[in-house]
Amino acid sequence: MSAWKQRLTKSLHQTRNQPESRYFQLATVDTQGVPENRTVVFRQLEDEDYSLVIVSDTRSAKWESLTHQPMASICWYFSKTREQYRFTVNARCYNRKDDKSLIETYWSKLSDAGRKQYFWGRPSSVRQNDAPLRVSEDMTQPPEHFSVMKFRVLAVDYLSLQGNPQHREKHWLDESGNWTTQPIVP
Ligand SMILES: Cc1cc2nc3c(=O)[nH]c(=O)nc-3n(C[C@H](O)[C@H](O)[C@H](O)COP(=O)(O)O)c2cc1C
Repeated sequence: MSAWKQRLTKSLHQTRNQPESRYFQLATVDTQGVPENRTVVFRQLEDEDYSLVIVSDTRSAKWESLTHQPMASICWYFSKTREQYRFTVNARCYNRKDDKSLIETYWSKLSDAGRKQYFWGRPSSVRQNDAPLRVSEDMTQPPEHFSVMKFRVLAVDYLSLQGNPQHREKHWLDESGNWTTQPIVP
């Protein structure tokens, strides 16, 4: 297992009782090259290709941006352990047509409240009135716009604020596909 993955596994374990430690910031660039950023929920770290996984909506801005430019950046701060991870990532976005079984797997893990959000209407569209966004659809099956996004980690900039001096290190994939770690000045 790579050194950064060991660290992240430990951070996740140490913060397992803090739901807010499952949120990270995902930065992308839009089709005009303008940076955009938002908070998302971490769902899983995939073992085989070191991907961070989230669920989202194909109708959202991030889907269009990532389709245009799959390189993105993730920033994740664990306040309890005072660690920051900055990931350089490459995104692959899936809808039902791309991988039905993957979509169904992640849909099955969502709570009812999580599923409902996918039936409120098109994200960013004008809300007609202040009436509650009621959902009457059958939520057992994922809607067409439900998506899974996998972010394959290409490099990591890790900073721990514990200790004085602080500890910072870079991790990257070398030409033979192995992870290299280098401590650097914080
Ligand atoms: C704590 C928190 C968790 C969120 N988790 C997700 C998520 O897992 N997936 C998602 O698509 N949006 C999530 N959102 C909403 C996004 O931050 C964002 O508002 C939405 O996805 C639209 O972003 P976009 O227009 O840049 O695509 C979350 C927001 C917050 C505050």
